[in-house]
Amino acid sequence: MARYAQIVGWGMCVPDYILTNDDLSRIVDTSDEWIRTRTGIRERHIVNEKTETTSSLAVKAARAALGVADLSPRQVDTIIVATVTPDYPFPATACLVQDALGAAHASAFDLNAGCSGFVYGLNVGSSLITSGQADYVLVIGAETLSRITDWNDRDTCVLFGDGAGAVVLAASQISGGVRATVLGADGSGGDLLMLPAGGSRHPASRQTVSDGLHFIHMKGREVFRFATRVMPQATREVAEQAGWTLDEVSLIIPHQANDRIIQSSAKRLKLPPERVFTNLERYGNTSAASIPIALCEAVEQGRIEPDDRVILVSFGAGLTWAAAAVEWSMPLPVKPVPWWRVLFRHLRYRWAWLRSFARRALRKLAVILLGPAEGNGWLARLRTHRDR
Ligand code: ACO
Repeated sequence: MARYAQIVGWGMCVPDYILTNDDLSRIVDTSDEWIRTRTGIRERHIVNEKTETTSSLAVKAARAALGVADLSPRQVDTIIVATVTPDYPFPATACLVQDALGAAHASAFDLNAGCSGFVYGLNVGSSLITSGQADYVLVIGAETLSRITDWNDRDTCVLFGDGAGAVVLAASQISGGVRATVLGADGSGGDLLMLPAGGSRHPASRQTVSDGLHFIHMKGREVFRFATRVMPQATREVAEQAGWTLDEVSLIIPHQANDRIIQSSAKRLKLPPERVFTNLERYGNTSAASIPIALCEAVEQGRIEPDDRVILVSFGAGLTWAAAAVEWSMPLPVKPVPWWRVLFRHLRYRWAWLRSFARRALRKLAVILLGPAEGNGWLARLRTHRDR
């Protein structure tokens, strides 16, 4: 029997703090007028560096998505976090999310395809579902680009913002969902957009820090040219793969990097502005989070209706590009979940926190009492018994 990967839940989270163009003009030599006319951005949300991280935004977005899907985290089979700003190089941010959600049966991994990461994640998640390897997959795009932004560099600091968006993909026999995906990469353009240090080529050192190599480095004009070429191309290809004409597409949700890139792509595709969703005015470029955040807002604003054909299309560091054709099958608006189920889920997240705390404490105790080898082995056995 055919299996389809449907989007059954969606959620987003952006930090409370808003940094406006005027605020930026007090930090670097720029102006609201320049930023608005060259990029379309008015403001962006920035994390509180003491209390918020990529994983904390991802967890909130994931909880919202699980809430819409009315799904227990224990039912999730796989968690994919698309990000270029993980909490750590390792462990994967997805594992931190898995722990915070109490998704005890889920595998978890990060995916780095620059701003195209979320659409790459949709490809992987939907493939796991259609191949029968998973029933529920959480695909999250989450970023704290403010943490790798050079706030003295006006070329880049005006562009980026922080946030997270998530979707729950579910196996279904109803035809629809993720119908086609197109992925691409051209590593020869890797140097156009990169974080030069912190990896094995240039491990962190005093020199890398003083040279500013832990910040985003970008050749904006080249990236712009690349983006205006691949966005229409990937959109056409994915529509063709899905067997749709562009006239049949209700909405295009492009990566929110620059309004001029979006408008140029729309013009090349001969699409009227009302069929192209934008919200970068309020968020800036949130990299892998931009498409799921835009998707959530498009649903909230009633821009997506059941049976609509939607194309998500992105480009990013790598260089990469990606597009997904989604046939929306979920009824809208979503039926409100009974209060007691909301309460139950909330309690489950409290329990997940307690579980994580207890496991850390037990691990330390076991290592003290039994020594490192025995202690860690004992906890692994306990996990197998309790969680499976
Ligand atoms: N305020 C005022 N002036 C500025 C600013 C600023 N913030 N930034 C640059 N300028 C100046 C430049 O110094 C330059 O001055 P000059 O002519 O005296 O040399 C002038 O403005 C024009 O600069 P350009 O770089 O030609 O400006 P452009 O119109 O190309 O816009 C921009 C720059 C917005 C960066 C554009 O190239 C762009 O959007 N590129 C794509 C970037 C992108 O999408 N990156 C994200 C990729 S996704 C990912 O994976 C993270």
